[in-house]
Amino acid sequence: MVRKKFPKLKSRVVLAPMHNITNVAFRVLCKKYGASMVSTELLSANALARGNSAVEKLALNDKSEKPVVGQIFGQKIENVVKAGKFLESQGFDLIDFNLGCPSKKIMGQGSGGALLRRPGKVGEIVKALVDVVKIPVTVKIRSGIDGRNRAVEIAKICESSGASAVIVHARSVEQGYSGKADWNVIKEVKEAVKIPVIGNGDVWNGENAKRMIDETGCDYVMIGRGAIGNPFVFKSVKMFLDKEKMIEQSSSEKVEDYFNYIKLCKKFGIFSVVDAKLKAQEFTKGLKGSVELRRELNKVKSFEEIERLMKGLV
Ligand SMILES: Cc1cc2nc3c(=O)[nH]c(=O)nc-3n(C[C@H](O)[C@H](O)[C@H](O)COP(=O)(O)O)c2cc1C
Repeated sequence: MVRKKFPKLKSRVVLAPMHNITNVAFRVLCKKYGASMVSTELLSANALARGNSAVEKLALNDKSEKPVVGQIFGQKIENVVKAGKFLESQGFDLIDFNLGCPSKKIMGQGSGGALLRRPGKVGEIVKALVDVVKIPVTVKIRSGIDGRNRAVEIAKICESSGASAVIVHARSVEQGYSGKADWNVIKEVKEAVKIPVIGNGDVWNGENAKRMIDETGCDYVMIGRGAIGNPFVFKSVKMFLDKEKMIEQSSSEKVEDYFNYIKLCKKFGIFSVVDAKLKAQEFTKGLKGSVELRRELNKVKSFEEIERLMKGLV
């Protein structure tokens, strides 16, 4: 087993994998704003192993977003290994293995967060992946399943199995996305392993990011919900980390970002009216007129109508 070196990233802030959010168009936009690493949403290793074309489509990536991570979940070693090789062949720079998804369906298969109960199995899977791909393998963990904190134990097993970095979402699986993230867990993992640690949970702005780095010593900060409809967050966090300066985006710039997102979706052949509607809500959240916009969006059927409503906002 040879551990591959985790790349030195250009900034300390990276985009979290998010289902239905982090497609190639969204990632390219986040990259443009300074996210130094971006990731696909979680992809089923079983589906990739049997060549499921819908899931393969989610693995679409582009040179302009490098370094880009392909995230997989699963628990059958043979399929995880096949999926890892497939993602490597598709140009991904890193593979991330999901050890935290709280979805009942995924946990029910013994994957995602359910694996936190089986440190031995985690070690076997990570080692098998590290052995077959030439690119770095990372793991994304939670603090544990319930109240019992297993982060240090799992992180150490992943490190000794060849993982190149560990991402710590400082919440238990049972917490889902509610309650506060316990950043102490990130600090404990950072003190316990030598590989880079990426802290995650409740970072919405530059001040939070700086505090997470200061309090935990983590190498990088990962942003999830704070980036939804807000790829600009990467520029503002980077500005705060570099110069302790706060910057904001105007409403018209937000709407412009939305249209840039749509342009990228069309370029990559992933445009859909359903997603365009969803993103219109996300990109305008909190803006003047967004409540009325949401109501109107529920009635529309074509992109031309969405376009008209969005242009009417500014
Ligand atoms: C809509 C949504 C989808 C998510 N999908 C994934 C996923 O596919 N893979 C994963 O590892 N985590 C997923 N997560 C968890 C995030 O990556 C992140 O760990 C979590 O949101 C905590 O970070 P935050 O407080 O910055 O949002 C998802 C979170 C949200 C809100």
